[in-house]
Amino acid sequence: MNKNLEIELPSTGAPLLQAESLLQAESVGKTVPGPDGELTLLEDIDFTLSPGQSVAITGPSGSGKSTLLGLLAGLDTPTSGEVLLDGKPFSKLDEDGRAVRRGELCAFVFQHFHLVNDLNALENVMLPLELKGAASPRKTASHWLQRVGLEHRLKHFPATLSGGEQQRVALARAFAVQPQLLFADEPTGSLDHANGGRIGELLFDLNRESGTALVLVTHDQQLAKRCQRHLQLEEGRLFERSESSIESLAEAATESSAQ
Ligand SMILES: Nc1ncnc2c1ncn2[C@@H]1O[C@H](COP(=O)(O)OP(=O)(O)OP(=O)(O)O)[C@@H](O)[C@H]1O
Ligand SMILES: [Mg+2]
Repeated sequence: MNKNLEIELPSTGAPLLQAESLLQAESVGKTVPGPDGELTLLEDIDFTLSPGQSVAITGPSGSGKSTLLGLLAGLDTPTSGEVLLDGKPFSKLDEDGRAVRRGELCAFVFQHFHLVNDLNALENVMLPLELKGAASPRKTASHWLQRVGLEHRLKHFPATLSGGEQQRVALARAFAVQPQLLFADEPTGSLDHANGGRIGELLFDLNRESGTALVLVTHDQQLAKRCQRHLQLEEGRLFERSESSIESLAEAATESSAQ
């Protein structure tokens, strides 16, 4: 066990789950208007995630991974089908309703971080804790910034942090609320090998210790291999892959992203 986990964490009062499936996509599709008519980004996506499961989503650049993650997290809505969260309608709620449900159960790490520019690192991590009414936001935020190795950058604003440091603040912000479900879009994409490994450890610590389910979009082969399930997007369709093919697919995704 990671010795850091011996630290007692303040509870954020996560609600108990009510349904057997944490997240469900039923025939989800997404089309957008294009210059030559309707453009299909995602088609007929069926997907069920149990509480505590970890899943990697890979696929070539432009295959729709971020679009799918946004739909699953209720940041965007499908043009067909439905997403259910903890067994209840999610994608059919209005924007405010989705934000409330997402805030209760989920955290999201964006591919481009989305930190609040006029808040420093500590304040960025404190923000969702304050919104949730957590007991000691400053202490919890400091703890998680220390866990991602940024205890020396608490008062730095995003513009004065490197890309990798901003990514770690975004991860600390997500970890701090101890969500039931963590969505992360390329969580190690801006990190060097050592920091990528450290964040991988933290993700799976959270998964093991808090039962947090992980949905990770990643080109990182090591990260994908550690997930229980592996899904691959191909031309807007989602395929479940067997354990044995994880390595070759993750390699293919890495090669494709490098082109
Ligand atoms: N609102 C939109 N209107 C038109 N096209 C869009 C829109 N949003 C996304 N796309 C297109 O959908 C495709 C999928 O985009 P998405 O960002 O989901 O890809 P991705 O798999 O996350 O790629 P990457 O690995 O580069 O991050 C891209 O071709 C993109 O240009
Ligand atoms: Mg993307």
